[in-house]
Amino acid sequence: MKIKEVTQLENFSGTVIVPVYETNPKNIVPIEFEEIVLSSKVFFGKKNSRYVVEKGNALYLFIGIGKTIDYSNLKTLFRSVSQKEESYFSQNVALYIPDAFNEDLVEAVVSGLLLGTYNLGHFKKKEAHSFLNSAFQLEIFSSKSYASVVNKSIKIARAQLEVLALVDLPPNTVTPHYLGLWAKEKGEKHGFEVKILGREAAKIEGLGAFLAVGQGSENEPQFIIMDYVPATKSDTFKHVGLVGKGVTFDTGGLNIKTAGMLHMKCDMAGAAAVLGTMQLISDLQLPIKVTAIVPCTENSVSGKSFLPSDVITSYSGNSIEIIDTDAEGRLILADGISYMLKNYKPEYLVDIATLTGSSVGTFGYECGALFTNNESIARQLQDAGNSIGERLWQLPLWDCYKQDIESDIADVKNYSGKPVAGAISAAKFLEFFTEEHTAWAHLDIAGVAFGDDEFAKSKHATAYGVHLLTKFIENI
Ligand code: BES
Ligand code: ZN
Ligand code: ZN
Repeated sequence: MKIKEVTQLENFSGTVIVPVYETNPKNIVPIEFEEIVLSSKVFFGKKNSRYVVEKGNALYLFIGIGKTIDYSNLKTLFRSVSQKEESYFSQNVALYIPDAFNEDLVEAVVSGLLLGTYNLGHFKKKEAHSFLNSAFQLEIFSSKSYASVVNKSIKIARAQLEVLALVDLPPNTVTPHYLGLWAKEKGEKHGFEVKILGREAAKIEGLGAFLAVGQGSENEPQFIIMDYVPATKSDTFKHVGLVGKGVTFDTGGLNIKTAGMLHMKCDMAGAAAVLGTMQLISDLQLPIKVTAIVPCTENSVSGKSFLPSDVITSYSGNSIEIIDTDAEGRLILADGISYMLKNYKPEYLVDIATLTGSSVGTFGYECGALFTNNESIARQLQDAGNSIGERLWQLPLWDCYKQDIESDIADVKNYSGKPVAGAISAAKFLEFFTEEHTAWAHLDIAGVAFGDDEFAKSKHATAYGVHLLTKFIENI
C-alpha cells in the first residue's frame, strides 16, 4: 500500500471513503460533502450504517461512526468496511479524515482498513485484496498532514497480519522450524539478531523443562532467541525481556485432551505476539533494547513422550515433578524465563501465553489475566491495553497459593492436581522461576488470542498482544 496526501479531491476518479459522525435522524440540516447533499432521512451517520453515492468519476462511500467512537471500535468498523465492501475498492481509493479526528483515530482507521485485507482462506484459490497490490495507492484527503501516523498505522497492521497468519495456519505448516525461519527472515529484514537452539544445542545448554515437552514429537523443538538493539548507540536505553509460549500444537501429551483439542494450534499465540512485537518495534525503530525468547515445541503423544510423575531438571537447576503433561506451557516458559534472566538480565520481564483454561473460565473472551507484583507495571500494561481495546485484569499472586506447587519429591510440581485457581497456580509456578525479579508480569491470554467474531464462521486468531506489548514498550 502506497500513501499520498492530498488536500482536495478535484478530478479524483475512484472510491472515496468518508467517515461521518452521527447527526440526528430528524435533522433538517443535511450532511454535505464535496457538493453531495444527504438528507438525514437516508443517512445520518448511525454507527456502522453505510451509504453509497456516485458523482462524476467517483463513488462516495459514507460510513456512519456514531456520536462517539473509541480506537478499538473504529478499527474494527474499518476492518469490516475493507473486508466486506471490497468490491468498491478495485480502483483508486481516497480516505477522508474528518477534522474532529485525532492521530489515534487516524491510526485506527488506517490500520483497520489494512487488517480488512486478511483472508482466512490460506489454502484456497483466491485473489489478493486490492489494497495489497504493490501498485495500490491510498490518498489521504485531509486539511492536516498525517504522514507519520499513517506510516505507523501500516506497520502496526502489517505486524498484526503476520500474527494472524501465524496463529491461523495449521500445525502441520506452523511447526517450531517454521517459526524459527520466520524469525530469521524478519530479523534480517528489520534488523534484529536471531539465534536458534535445536534439540542438541538445547540439551547442551541444559534446557530440560523445554526439552521434556517436545520429546514425544517428530518436529524438532526450536528455542528462538532474538535481540533488538536500537541503531543509535546509548547507555541509557531501557531493556525489556519478552518470553512467549510457542506450543505449536497441544494435544495434552499423555494426559491427552478430551475437550478443546481442535483449537490447540492457537497454543503458540504468545510466541506469535512476541514475534510480531519484534517485527513491529524494529520496524518502528523504537529507542529501547528488547530481548525476546520464544521456546517453540509441539506437545504430542508417542513412546518418547514425557510421563506424568516424571521428574525433570529445568535450566535453573530446579527439579520439577510432572503431575500433568497438559500443563506444559509453564514448563517451557520456566526455561525461557530462567534463560533470559541468567544470560540477558533485562530490567523488565514480560511473559505472554495461552496458559490456562482457568483464565478463560474466569474472564471469558473479554480480557487477558494479568499477574505481577509490580503495581506500576500493572498500570502501564493495563493503560496500554485499554487504549487499544486489548484489556487486562489483574489476579493475585498471594503466598497462600504457593502450596499448590509444592512437591514431595521435587523442588516444585507443575500442577496442584485440584480443579481450582488454575490460572493463579500456573502464575505461581512461573513466579518460582523469576528469581524475585521486581519488574516481571505474566499475561495469560488463553481467552483472548483466538475467538469468534464477525470476520469468519469459525474461531480464529485475534493478534492480541502485538500492539499491547509494543505500546507498553513504547511508553515505558
Ligand atoms: N494450552 C492449554 C491452555 C488453553 C486452554 C489455551 C484454552 C487456549 C484455550 C494449556 O496447556 C493447558 O492444557 N492447560 C490446562 C492445565 C491443567 C492440565 C493443569 C488447563 O488449563 O486446563
Ligand atoms: Zn496443555
Ligand atoms: Zn498449552
